[in-house]
Amino acid sequence: MNFDFDTVVARKGTGCIKYDRRPELDPFWVADMDFVSAPVILDALHKRIDHGVFGYAQAHVGLIDAIGEYLQTRRHVVLNADHLIHLGGLVPALSLAARAFCEDGGELMTCTPVYPPFLGVHKDAGAKLLTVDHVFNSGRWEFDWDTMKNVVSEKTKIFLLCNPQNSLGRAFSKDEVIQLAQFCVKHDLVLVSDEIHCDLIFDEVSTPHFSALQLPQELAARSITLLSPSKTWNIAGLGYAFAIIPDDSIRRKFNAAKGHTLAEINALSYYAAEAAYKLGESWRQELISYLTKNRDELVRFINEDCDSLSVHTPEATYLAWIDARKLNVKNPAEFFEKEAGLFLSDGAFFGWPGWVRFNFACPRARMIEGLEKMKIAIGKLPAQA
Ligand SMILES: Cc1ncc(COP(=O)(O)O)c(C=O)c1O
Repeated sequence: MNFDFDTVVARKGTGCIKYDRRPELDPFWVADMDFVSAPVILDALHKRIDHGVFGYAQAHVGLIDAIGEYLQTRRHVVLNADHLIHLGGLVPALSLAARAFCEDGGELMTCTPVYPPFLGVHKDAGAKLLTVDHVFNSGRWEFDWDTMKNVVSEKTKIFLLCNPQNSLGRAFSKDEVIQLAQFCVKHDLVLVSDEIHCDLIFDEVSTPHFSALQLPQELAARSITLLSPSKTWNIAGLGYAFAIIPDDSIRRKFNAAKGHTLAEINALSYYAAEAAYKLGESWRQELISYLTKNRDELVRFINEDCDSLSVHTPEATYLAWIDARKLNVKNPAEFFEKEAGLFLSDGAFFGWPGWVRFNFACPRARMIEGLEKMKIAIGKLPAQA
């Protein structure tokens, strides 16, 4: 290992959401990592800071080249820079898509459980939300195509896809993404594909990422693909993401929905993103090896040592989706907060009460401490009949 993922970095009091929102708790919730970002990114930031002038910024040629190379190498697609829209984050893009296509009584469709803003952005557009639960089939979470067909209506305008899926950890296959894109064509929906976790797949041979950018042209034509280096290189706090929208009319509507609602993008974030895509691959590879060991230990611990909990092995993301329904407590996240002093993500916010999400992107020793606290808390519950 060339990089250090084992050292515990004190984050409390640094103005970070994860530790400072509820400083009395041990946090395993929001999706950022407890690791220092890649040295190549720190170097790029230092260099940009040393320049000393931080006026309004725009994406520089180096970043656009880096995105182009990244898409070519990792997705085997050629970037058309005219299709690229720089953004300060992905969530605003979900909201823009809702406002661009679902206003005036439109419906937005997505599948649950899912990252909470997917269940909230319809409100920005005064639209209606349609949700369909994912189903567990042959050892993996899948789309429930039959229910989706029954639920979609003429008023439905967009489908929000989370791929890889937060919180289920699925990296949807080429066949699944194509089937979803065909569903969108059939029902005249714009496919909004949030791929923020696409560089956090554990085994890219058995479960490769299939991007909406790789769809056949006629299907890709109605897609909005959202990407960012933020999750993979732990630079979410710098705020940079981008959208690729091949169709002129969809792109125009998306851009028009911005109005005056978005701030200019952080000047530093452009340079961090460039360094991540251009120089960050060896760090990413080591990160994935480290996270794989964390994942495997977590899955073993939850399934073998925590009686009433179960978890499936995620294919992607550093998030474990834990079924806590058999604990027989009203709210498992609150239970672990009160009894273990832990801050976990409450499944209810993802549309599935009774589940919790555990973020395992932290030094292994810290993760194990958190898991031990869960086990001790469960041990305090009365034995079940
Ligand atoms: C699926 C997904 N989309 C978007 C985001 C957040 O994106 P941003 O911080 O760029 O708004 C997250 C963060 O956890 C996420 O998991």
